[in-house]
Amino acid sequence: MTILVTGCAGFIGSNFVHTWLASSKEMVVNLDKLTYAGNLANLDDLKDDKRHVFVHGDIGNRDLVAELLTQYQPRAVLNFAAESHVDRSIHGPGEFIQTNVLGTFNLLESVRAYWTKLPESNRDVNQQSFRFLHVSTDEVYGTLSATDAPFKETNPYEPNSPYSASKAASDHLVRAWHHTYGLPVLTTNCSNNYGPYHFPEKLIPLVILNALAGKPLPIYGDGQQVRDWLYVEDHCRAIARVLEAGKVGECYNIGGWNEKANLDVVHTLCAILDELQPRADGRAYAEQITYVKDRPGHDRRYAMDASKMEQELGWRPRETFDTGIRKTVQWYLANQSWVEGVTSGAYRQWLDKHYGA
Ligand SMILES: NC(=O)c1ccc[n+]([C@@H]2O[C@H](COP(=O)([O-])OP(=O)(O)OC[C@H]3O[C@@H](n4cnc5c(N)ncnc54)[C@H](O)[C@@H]3O)[C@@H](O)[C@H]2O)c1
Repeated sequence: MTILVTGCAGFIGSNFVHTWLASSKEMVVNLDKLTYAGNLANLDDLKDDKRHVFVHGDIGNRDLVAELLTQYQPRAVLNFAAESHVDRSIHGPGEFIQTNVLGTFNLLESVRAYWTKLPESNRDVNQQSFRFLHVSTDEVYGTLSATDAPFKETNPYEPNSPYSASKAASDHLVRAWHHTYGLPVLTTNCSNNYGPYHFPEKLIPLVILNALAGKPLPIYGDGQQVRDWLYVEDHCRAIARVLEAGKVGECYNIGGWNEKANLDVVHTLCAILDELQPRADGRAYAEQITYVKDRPGHDRRYAMDASKMEQELGWRPRETFDTGIRKTVQWYLANQSWVEGVTSGAYRQWLDKHYGA
């Protein structure tokens, strides 16, 4: 048995491959374009593992995807591939429309052509047969006030950034391919992830690495934007559970029940670093905190109601914020060569040489 996963040289996808292969013999074919966010060093330990096949390519390349589907006959396709950084979407939304909207459209069409030709037994939506699982975000729901209830699957979509609008569009396409063509789809919408292999443009790795390098720790606006944080392995286990037991055509909200203001997250990181790797001058890392102009259209609060995942699929996160964030800091301290490869850009030179990426 084989699954085809896209975007698994990135943060969540690479963690998914590790989590998956730790408990399954099933082969993973990993299709990734290797944008700036794709880093094969995230999968270095799987170099000699025959259960992982890496293919360099774009989800929007229909010929390539058709070839992979014919060759490997996967029993499921999981789509992690996306442009994922809100700040980049503000400065250059085109790439987000290209991959998140058009890329997902092309992928759906390739998968539909494959699925249509599968034997009848593989097309019965009530059986454990073919599935297309689309990985999405809580940001499609827009923003909450301090007193609003967390987002449920029934909340309307109200995306506010080019990133979230492009993800919302992809979710709608996935939904329509189910309702119109019967494609057996599942969609997961998850809150903010953190953990190993997180590219240091995002808040948590950025703060850890800037703190250690003696650089400012930038806080947008007043730092009171609230996010619901989930340790990445818990997200990966949730996706595997949805693939295993989710009901075709349904969406599942995944969250950590861990609402934290950005400023509190940064103070927590500083306190852990003070303990695990104190500054040479004995001062607190929190002294490096610097307030910068807020991001335009910055959503104030996200929070997920993950009770459907819990009640219907028996999933709950294993990590609390305290255990997950400590593991994350420890991982960055223990994996200096990965950090150096990413921060020096050496991984890009390697990719250019091998893939002309
Ligand atoms: N990071 C989070 O907190 C979070 C939370 C909820 C949902 N998500 C969603 O999870 C998915 C993965 O997020 P991430 O944080 O790992 O992103 P990431 O930016 O770290 O990784 C994205 C990966 O997709 C690849 N990619 C980009 N365009 C591609 C294309 N056209 N064809 C093939 N591969 C392509 C990149 O090379 C990279 O390896 C995304 O769909 C994102 O929207 C992320």
